[in-house]
This record gives sequence, structure tokens and C-alpha cells, in this order.
Amino acid sequence: MKKKPIILGIESSCDETAASIITENEQGKPIILSNIISSQVDVHKEFGGVVPELAARSHIEKIDLITKKAIDDSGIKMNDIDAIAATAGPGLIVCLSVGLSFGKTIASLLNKPFIAVNHLEGHALSPKLNSKLDYPYLLLLISGGHTQFLSVQGLGEYKRLGTTIDDAVGEAFDKTAKLLGIEFPGGPQIEIYAKKGDPYKYELPKPIFHKGGCNLSFAGLKTAVLKISKQIKTKQEKYDLAASFQRTIEEILLKKSKIAFKEFEKINNNNKNKFIVAGGVAANKKIRKILENLCEKENFEAIFPPVDLCGDNAAMIAMVGLEKFKLKQFSELDHPAKPRWPLDKDAIFLKGAGVRL
Ligand code: KG4
Ligand code: ZN
Repeated sequence: MKKKPIILGIESSCDETAASIITENEQGKPIILSNIISSQVDVHKEFGGVVPELAARSHIEKIDLITKKAIDDSGIKMNDIDAIAATAGPGLIVCLSVGLSFGKTIASLLNKPFIAVNHLEGHALSPKLNSKLDYPYLLLLISGGHTQFLSVQGLGEYKRLGTTIDDAVGEAFDKTAKLLGIEFPGGPQIEIYAKKGDPYKYELPKPIFHKGGCNLSFAGLKTAVLKISKQIKTKQEKYDLAASFQRTIEEILLKKSKIAFKEFEKINNNNKNKFIVAGGVAANKKIRKILENLCEKENFEAIFPPVDLCGDNAAMIAMVGLEKFKLKQFSELDHPAKPRWPLDKDAIFLKGAGVRL
């Protein structure tokens, strides 16, 4: 019986230091042997956001311990590892460099292949850790740094259908939380506040709702939340604003997903299309629910990673490593850290003032 590949994944692109060991069973189903995540929330709390230098220092302090724990917990020996996959971008360069150098060092010490992984591809493949998923599929990536609709044609083959032209949706959640006085990282708290509020109390703008195809915009929303938050006096009004914000995001994602479905169908000819929602914001239960309902109506199958694999983790990085390992897509040891690394390299840059849709 042929030995199944064992992959070590390493992630350090932002404020999570993570390591994971995965393999697969006889049927080719991925198995997570360990998945260790150390969050830096306490390091950044007093600054209200991620401070790159502090994040990098914390990665340096923890990366070896986290990786050792991932190996110990998995029950394998260091020498059993067949390849090392580490995030090489996009992200904060000082943070990326830590995990990347560490991964390369282990690869050269063990004399095993090194695989540089695009963090966004990690999110894109994260549902494969618990669902059988063949290409092509439609992906909505909603995280703290990215908001994109992508047609995933194959490993490393992406066609961007739409993107945010300003803030990422997770960023909008975090900024709204900050304006409501919720401690960093506030995004997940908005969901909890929203449950206690009236979603129709405040009318917030939905930029480019009626134009721009499935491109999205959230910056105007933040300005509106800022104005209202200055007039708010009671806790109930905070809940109402959170609920109104959550509803507005749902309406934007619903409308834009419908458009993305049509665009996806134009370039793919499947019997049953699959819609994958991944990234930190995909942990939002209400967003999952409304997109699931939309899929039922539109004959798409909705697939989400488990909630604990929506945020940044190293199992998803190892997942990309596993697929690349099987195709012998290895990287050189001088592979650079890339702060910007779009999945669709042909997509035009659509951000900032003067963007035309
Ligand atoms: O994918 P992720 O862990 O990191 C990036 O690659 O950006 O996503 C983090 C983002 C943060 O903006 C966080 O506020 C948001 O995901 N997030 C949520 C929820 N859980 C995490 N946003 C809304 N509702 C949630 N339940
Ligand atoms: Zn991420």
C-alpha cells in the first residue's frame, strides 16, 4: 500500500500563528491530524487593530512551539513529513517572512519539498477539508482583507468575477464594531449585538447596489455608521445599529451573489453548480443562512467550511500543499514573500478613487 502524503502547513500572514498536519485516507479524503492556532488578540487589543511589528515579534516567539505542538498532537514523527507548505502572501510582509523562512528552514533540514501557498487559495480550498468538491465552483471569499467572487476553474486557476472596490466586508464589520465601542476584534460581536436589535431601525447606504455587476463597495456604509453612532445614547440603539448594519450587508451579499451566479453560469456548464463561501466572515451564521436559502432557489449547492476553519488557520494552507504535492508543484527555497498576490493575475486592479465600473 502506497504511503499517503503527510503535509505540514504553516500560516503567519496576519495575527494568527498556526501550524497543522494533514494527510488523506485511501479514498483521497483529507484528514486533519492536528490544527494549532495561536491568536494574538491580547497583543493588539489595546491598539484597536493589528500592529505589524508586534505581530511579527509574536510570530517569532511562537512559531517553533506551535509547530512542535502540531507535530506532537498529530502523532507523527518529524521525518514522516513529506512536504512543508507555508503561506507566502498576501499579507503583512514582516509577518509572512516569519512563517515562510521557518517553513523553508524545516524543508531544507528534512530535505523535503517546500510549497509556497497563496493564503487566499487556502481559504478557497478550505471547504475541501470536510466536503468532496470538484472544480469548477463559484467562490465568495469574505475575509478581513478581501471580498471577491471568483470562478475557481482548477488548482491555481481563478477568474475574478467581482471584487470590493474599497473596504473588505470583514473590515466593515470591524470598523462598525469599533464605532460602537466594541473591543477589537469586534466583527464577530456585531453578529451577537444584531440579534438583539431592530434591523429596520436605520437605513444605511448600499453603494453600487444597482451597478457594477457583482463588484461591491462598503466604504460609504462606514461613513453612515460613523454619523449615526455619534447620536446614539442607549445600548438598545447600539443593538439596532448593529442589526441594521448586518441586514444591509446581507442585502448587498444576496444581490451581488445572484449576479455572480449568472456570471458563473456564463463561463461554466455544470448540471449542479456549487457556491462556496469562505473566509472569516463566512462564520457569520445569518450570512450563511441567507446565502443557503438563495442557493436553494437558484439551483446552486451551498458549501461552507466548518465555522472553526473559516478564519485563518494552517490546515487550509496544508490543504493547498496536499493538492500541489500530488501534482509535484514545488517551490524554490528563494520564493519571495508577496504582500500583494491576487488569485487572478489577469484581473485589473479595482481600488481607490477614480475606479470606473
Ligand atoms: O479570514 P480571516 O480570519 O482573516 C483574513 O484573512 O482577513 O477573517 C477575519 C475577518 C475579521 O474582519 C472578522 O471581524 C471577520 O472575519 N469575522 C466576522 C465573524 N467572524 C469573523 N465577521 C462577521 N461575523 C462573524 N461571525
Ligand atoms: Zn484569511
